[in-house]
Amino acid sequence: MKNILTTEEAAEYLGVTTTRVRQFIQEERLLSVKSGRDHLIKFSTLTAFAENGRKKIGRPRTDQVLSNNNIYRESSLSLDQLHNNGLQVINGDTRNIINKLPDNTFRCVVTSPPYWGVRDYGVENQIGSEQDLNTYIQDLVKIFSEVRRVLTPDGTFWLNIGNTYTSGGRKWRDADSKNKGRAMSYRPPTPEGLKKKDLIGVAWMLAMACQQDGWYLRNDIIWHKPNGQPESVKDRLTVTHEYVFLFSKSEKYFFNQKAIEEPFKNGEGRKNKRSVWSINTEPCAEAHFAVFPRNLVKPCILAGTDEGDLVLDPFYGSGTVGIVSQELNRKCLGIEINNDYISISRKRTNQVQGCLMLQES
Ligand SMILES: C[S@@+](CC[C@H](N)C(=O)[O-])C[C@H]1O[C@@H](n2cnc3c(N)ncnc32)[C@H](O)[C@@H]1O
Repeated sequence: MKNILTTEEAAEYLGVTTTRVRQFIQEERLLSVKSGRDHLIKFSTLTAFAENGRKKIGRPRTDQVLSNNNIYRESSLSLDQLHNNGLQVINGDTRNIINKLPDNTFRCVVTSPPYWGVRDYGVENQIGSEQDLNTYIQDLVKIFSEVRRVLTPDGTFWLNIGNTYTSGGRKWRDADSKNKGRAMSYRPPTPEGLKKKDLIGVAWMLAMACQQDGWYLRNDIIWHKPNGQPESVKDRLTVTHEYVFLFSKSEKYFFNQKAIEEPFKNGEGRKNKRSVWSINTEPCAEAHFAVFPRNLVKPCILAGTDEGDLVLDPFYGSGTVGIVSQELNRKCLGIEINNDYISISRKRTNQVQGCLMLQES
């Protein structure tokens, strides 16, 4: 490797675009020397940046995936491959992978996509970094229509999503000492028609768009977080809830009501589970983003599947859906764009996961 790199070479090394590299330079996160219209970066500076300055930026390291023993190289996946292993994960952009999965395969999909403009997951093509709100919604609706195709006809889709506020013209956000993952090198502009400080009902916008796209919208579950993070706001309430939308592919579908029944307060008998779930968030030391609490995923899988069924999470993150599936004797496939998070998911599960490698066509 050369000692001095151009922005283009640095971008290739980091696995990001040149625009992103220029952004790092502009924010003074990456030291460079101006040379004509370009910038030159020392290789040692770049490696230090990749190690420390850019911890959250995971470069898909295909070579590592390829050196794993348990790899399938396919242009599409067969049902047998999916059923052979209990827990599998594919490293890549969900948009390029989900369309290669077979129809009518998964009994249940549980997922939490990136929220719009809230977190930087540190990789190119991450969902949530769209400049335009409608593009974000359309991107997700498209992915979820593939989710519908790969669901069994009696399958259910459990979508966790929260509302966000407009950025108020701010272009970036600092990390906060308690939550480093809040740092954002970009903030999307305020959508047309909205104002500074407006609550964007993005969760409901997405739910309605999915309904329009053909999903049956069956529940808006309120996930109440008793240990929700404090907010330093003075003119509104601190938000301590998100949604889990329950969708089905068909009018009639598999739903094991009994498996998630709740006891009556007086302890006598059991009743249908209610639509407000009070569940504490669970920290995950290694992940800088919000991971699913297991107790949020558990009722979805219990109600949506039988033992041995296949579950899918197209935004796998640190692999909580895999962990819960494993605990409940279900099989699970995760898709995750950031290879660093796949490493976290591997550490969190005690079973060696098969790593699937799909050839992108
Ligand atoms: C909210 S996190 C999911 C956290 C997960 N539920 C857990 O328990 O760890 C969203 C995840 O989506 C991933 N992601 C973003 N864009 C993606 C894409 N285009 N394809 C696949 N994964 C993507 C991010 O890297 C991040 O890990």
